Amino acid sequence: MSTSSFGEKFAETETATAGPAGTVAPEAAADSPGSEFGARTKTMDFIQDQVLTLIEPAIAVRLSQEALNTRVDELVSQIAGQHRLLLNEIEQRSIAVRIVDDMIGLGPLEPLLRDETVADIMINGAKTIYVERRGKLVLTSLHFRNDAHVMHVAQRIASSVGRRVDESSPMLDARLADGSRVNVIIAPLSLKGPCISIRKFSHSIMRFSRFVELGSVSPELARALEIAARCRLNIIISGGTGSGKTTLLNALSAMIDHGERIVTIEDAAELQLQQPHVIQLETRQPNIEGYGEINQRDLVRNALRMRPDRIIIGEVRGPEAFDMMQAMNTGHNGSMSTVHANSARDAIARIENMMLMASANLPIRAIRAQITSAIDIIIQTERMRDGVRRVTEVAEVAGAEEDIISLGGLFAYRYLGENADGSLRGVFERRGGRPRFMPRIEYYGLGAAFKEALGSGAEEVAT
Ligand SMILES: Nc1ncnc2c1ncn2[C@@H]1O[C@H](COP(=O)(O)OP(=O)(O)OP(=O)(O)O)[C@@H](O)[C@H]1O
Ligand SMILES: [Mg+2]
Repeated sequence: MSTSSFGEKFAETETATAGPAGTVAPEAAADSPGSEFGARTKTMDFIQDQVLTLIEPAIAVRLSQEALNTRVDELVSQIAGQHRLLLNEIEQRSIAVRIVDDMIGLGPLEPLLRDETVADIMINGAKTIYVERRGKLVLTSLHFRNDAHVMHVAQRIASSVGRRVDESSPMLDARLADGSRVNVIIAPLSLKGPCISIRKFSHSIMRFSRFVELGSVSPELARALEIAARCRLNIIISGGTGSGKTTLLNALSAMIDHGERIVTIEDAAELQLQQPHVIQLETRQPNIEGYGEINQRDLVRNALRMRPDRIIIGEVRGPEAFDMMQAMNTGHNGSMSTVHANSARDAIARIENMMLMASANLPIRAIRAQITSAIDIIIQTERMRDGVRRVTEVAEVAGAEEDIISLGGLFAYRYLGENADGSLRGVFERRGGRPRFMPRIEYYGLGAAFKEALGSGAEEVAT
């Protein structure tokens, strides 16, 4: 793809929808009426309707998945035979998969949920489904039959977490059984039909070696981050939506010593700590009458009474920032969190604002003093235009001069140009210097290793 030209750019479109080996795409291509594909979709819909009249949904849910697969397979070939429909074995099988997905799963979403190369799924009304593969948004040729079909799937997701979506509660945050995060928004708020956005849960945590392979960090930067997490620095990961903050937080948490007691706090559990001594806390949404909400701030305060060595908050978004800064300042070194912000400097400004939400009458000078002594480093992540997620900046909170918090650069990604295939070329520059937290690293016996990772000056590590 040429990225040097100006003008409109269109998302890439997937023509083949077949996932990795073993998965069968239920539909082959978009159906313009009258086309061969349109006729095939009609045939599929016809068979599906016939099968549904022959199997009671109430009975279907009681059958085992295998028994249901076999039964639907039989019915599809029987109906195809009776009506002399010309379908080969693969087509019959794919219709059967689609029917079973609709009966007991999430319909057209099932093949995408099974496909490990898909990271995000975005449904914009019945006929438009985008996915993210390898950092790029791609339009698929899958679709729902109509808006009612999307709503049926949305209701199924909602009821699995004891909620509902309708005109009176048109927004929903939920999780699928596999841990994937889901947001639903419908009319009248969404003007183009019901929208469902899914961030798929990744079952294996990404190690730093993988980050290096993908070009997200240089080996030196990876080493420095590993040491920072190991030596109990207080770390904030900052970045935009989907820039890889949670994934990086998971990788950093893998460096924590197994002897430490860790409390994690999240809205929807995404962290996957491997240590034996972990307590996972999750907030609670208010019930239908609006009562019973337990927010992150309540949980941080409670966590402080649980004798944690470290507190990890999935993402700070509000007044809990105040309590988190206090925790970082009161013997819970090694605490970590993420924040939505566009740069390390911006992350500080966001945290200041969030602390003001908690305590509006605290002087800004006091807030800045707290932030300065609480946070050691800020790691900035970004999904760049070639689809690669990179650490673009690592800054230490060096101190406060007058009223201004000063940041010291440790690493920065510098863009150099673009390769023929559209990937970006750049360097992870090392800034050297002696960070304020160096005594802590030395206390853990990793001073020499950290200095080596940081380099002696502005050495550059190309990717
Ligand atoms: N360095 C990376 N290289 C490739 N893919 C990555 C990388 N980091 C994260 N991803 C993938 O990108 C997607 C988004 O990652 P993640 O959930 O960590 O982002 P986030 O910044 O926490 O998003 P949000 O703001 O929605 O919480 C995931 O599917 C994840 O597997
Ligand atoms: Mg996240």
